[in-house]
Amino acid sequence: MTLTVPTRKPPTTAEPVFSVSGLWKVFGPKPERVPADPELTALTPAELRSRTGCTAAVRDVSFDVRKGEVFVVMGLSGSGKSTLVRCLTRLIEPTAGTIAIDGEDVRAMDRARLRELRRHRAAMVFQHFGLLPHRTVLDNVAYGLEIQGVGRSERRERAAEFVAKVGLAGMEKRRPGQLSGGQRQRVGLARALAVDPEVLLFDEPFSALDPLIRRDMQDEVTRLHREEGRTMVFITHDLSEALKLGDRIALMRDGRVVQLGTPEEIVGAPADDYVREFVRDVPREQVLTCRTAMRPVSPEDAAHGPALRPEATVAEAIEAVARAGAPARVMDAGRCLGVVDHDRLLGVVAGVTPEAPAGTITAPASAGTATAVSDAPAPVAGDASASAAGARAAGNAPAPGNPAPGERRDRRDRRPAPEAPASSTREAV
Ligand SMILES: Nc1ncnc2c1ncn2[C@@H]1O[C@H](COP(=O)(O)OP(=O)(O)O)[C@@H](O)[C@H]1O
Ligand SMILES: [Mg+2]
Repeated sequence: MTLTVPTRKPPTTAEPVFSVSGLWKVFGPKPERVPADPELTALTPAELRSRTGCTAAVRDVSFDVRKGEVFVVMGLSGSGKSTLVRCLTRLIEPTAGTIAIDGEDVRAMDRARLRELRRHRAAMVFQHFGLLPHRTVLDNVAYGLEIQGVGRSERRERAAEFVAKVGLAGMEKRRPGQLSGGQRQRVGLARALAVDPEVLLFDEPFSALDPLIRRDMQDEVTRLHREEGRTMVFITHDLSEALKLGDRIALMRDGRVVQLGTPEEIVGAPADDYVREFVRDVPREQVLTCRTAMRPVSPEDAAHGPALRPEATVAEAIEAVARAGAPARVMDAGRCLGVVDHDRLLGVVAGVTPEAPAGTITAPASAGTATAVSDAPAPVAGDASASAAGARAAGNAPAPGNPAPGERRDRRDRRPAPEAPASSTREAV
């Protein structure tokens, strides 16, 4: 497994855009009884189905999507991802729980308000693009604006701007049938962007694309996000896609969020065996950072040697330390936060934390700072009850929180090849 994980800046917090609490979606007869009945909620999915005929697609899920972040919902097929994202704008009606957008109760919205939400505030990009086949690229992109009632010349002008923005300049007059799958996906993306939504919701938009085009589209999303700082909720079943795109990842299993955290938290401190198994093949050195790997400065440390940012990956640190033949200092704003040496770096790669004085490594975040609720919080450093594995994970745990929006990361510029990708689709225009 190879990964290119963008460099992340230190954690900050931001206002929530979506705020979800205790959300349930149960399909089947008399669904409301399930969340309300502790006996039923305690059943496994199979037991629940045989006892009641109901499927709990989303089970007691809580999280915030912060302004400017890419919030990834990851899980295997059938884990409830699509149901969850559709509940956000009530394309699927939730069974229980609360959803707010900018503090406004989504479940209390009337039809007009909901329409406004879907057209203006939260645009959806789907896997099957849903482009209008007889319309040109430009008119497809302008479609959402047309529905909003934007006048013809203005919408064509704005559409042209977004066609160019997703790398399709010169193709305005083509029809979807004259585009590759990747290009079509770009049209869908431009269409969602053109309505200038506060949040973009992506439901596995790239799953149907072949791997190279898929990577180009991921880079495109990364670039657009970096340039515009737009809030995104991105659904995927693909771990490397999640790690690449996500500021934070909610990992779902059987309708529940089993862990919510930064890629570094998920890889460095898996909440349970399921998550641990999920991330087993991730190249840790490409996800974990110096902030996690460093040890405290000691009097014997030289005041020179290579300097690294706290967000530098362990892979980068290994190279720097190998070249210098000496430990590297982890520097932030002229201050030395700690030191990474051979032992620490090897330990991180191996998943083994070297002996370190208590309290020298930042405790994991999940419990304290993640706004989201996870059923299975990551173990906390210093928690005496933590299992051996948990203690190990805690030692490795990354710093809390989440990169700040907008400026928050200097992702490498990986512009797609001009003839590349595509765009996705949206329904809810
Ligand atoms: N309309 C529906 N009626 C009954 N069960 C559904 C419906 N939609 C989804 N489900 C079930 O809910 C669960 C979650 O589905 P889904 O949200 O589509 O998962 P994912 O997007 O993660 O693949 C699955 O068990 C699925 O079969
Ligand atoms: Mg799905």
